[in-house]
Amino acid sequence: MSVTVRVPAKVNVRLAVGAPRPDGFHDLANVFLAVGLYDEVTVTPADGLRITCSGPDAAQVPLDATNLAARAAIALAERHGIAPDVHIHIAKDIPVAGGMAGGSADGAAALLACDALWSTGATRDELLAICAELGSDVPFSLVGGAALGTGRGERLTPIEVGSTFHWVFAVADGGLSTPAVYGEFDRLTADTDVPEPEASPALLDALRTGDATALAAALSNDLQPAALSLRPSLADTLAAGTAAGALAALVSGSGPTTAFLVADEESARKVAEALLSSGTCRNARTAVSPAPGATVV
Ligand code: C5P
Repeated sequence: MSVTVRVPAKVNVRLAVGAPRPDGFHDLANVFLAVGLYDEVTVTPADGLRITCSGPDAAQVPLDATNLAARAAIALAERHGIAPDVHIHIAKDIPVAGGMAGGSADGAAALLACDALWSTGATRDELLAICAELGSDVPFSLVGGAALGTGRGERLTPIEVGSTFHWVFAVADGGLSTPAVYGEFDRLTADTDVPEPEASPALLDALRTGDATALAAALSNDLQPAALSLRPSLADTLAAGTAAGALAALVSGSGPTTAFLVADEESARKVAEALLSSGTCRNARTAVSPAPGATVV
C-alpha cells in the first residue's frame, strides 16, 4: 500500500523582516500565498528509510537525512514509537532552492503521507507542531491557501482571498541559500534601525477583495535587496517581466526565483514567453493562487 500527497509551492506577497534575534532567526510579518505548482510525495512501506526523486531538477535534491521529507518521517515515527521504514518518492516540479518552499513542501507532504500510512491518529495541531520544528515555512505548506506568518514565520493566521491571482515565475540558474540571504540582509542593514515587521492593511485588503492591481501596488519583500546583492543579474529578470506587461515583479522569498503578478491567463502566457526569450532566466512557469495545502490524493 502507498499514500501520495500533493503539496503546493508558495510565494511571499509580503516579507517584512525584523532585526536578528538572539537565536539567529528573524521575526517576520510574512504573508504566504500558496501557488499551483506542485510536488507529489509518495510513501511506501520498505525495509528501511530511502528517498528517491524524479523530475528535471531531481539531481539537485539531497537524498540523505538532510532532506526535510526524511526528517519529517523520522520525527513522526519517533513520536509514535514506529520504525521509519518507508520509501519516500518525491516527484519534483517546484523549483529547487528557489525561494518557493519546495523543500518545506516535501517535508509537510511526507509528514501527512506517513501519518496516513501509519494511521498514527495524530491531531492536526500535533502535525503542525512537528512542521514548525522542521522549518519556518513547513507549517504553511501543510495549510496552504493564504496566511500571515509571524514569529519566525511558523505562527499562522489564515487570510481570506477573494479571487484567483495569476502569476509567472522565472526560474534562475542555480539556487540561493536561505541562511546566506538572511546573512546578507544583516550585513546590508547592520548600520540601520530595522523596524518591527508588520502586516500591511493595504495588502490584506487587496487579497480579500481579489484586486490584482491593488495587490501589485502592495507587494514587498525585505529580502529582495539581499538577494539582488548576491545575484545582481536578477535585476535583469525583474526588468524583462515588467517590460512585458507584468503588474508587479519581485523576488520570491529568499530567491532566486522571481515572481510576476499579471492581470490574467493571457498576460501570463505573454510574460512567460517574453521572459523565456529574454535569456535572463532558465525557465518561466505560469501558475494561479491561492492553492490548497498538502492533500492526500
Ligand atoms: O526555518 P528554516 O530552517 O527554514 O530556516 C533556514 C534559515 O533561514 C535559518 O537557519 C536562518 O538562517 C534563516 N531564517 C531566519 N529567520 C527566519 C526564518 C529563517 O533567519 N524567520
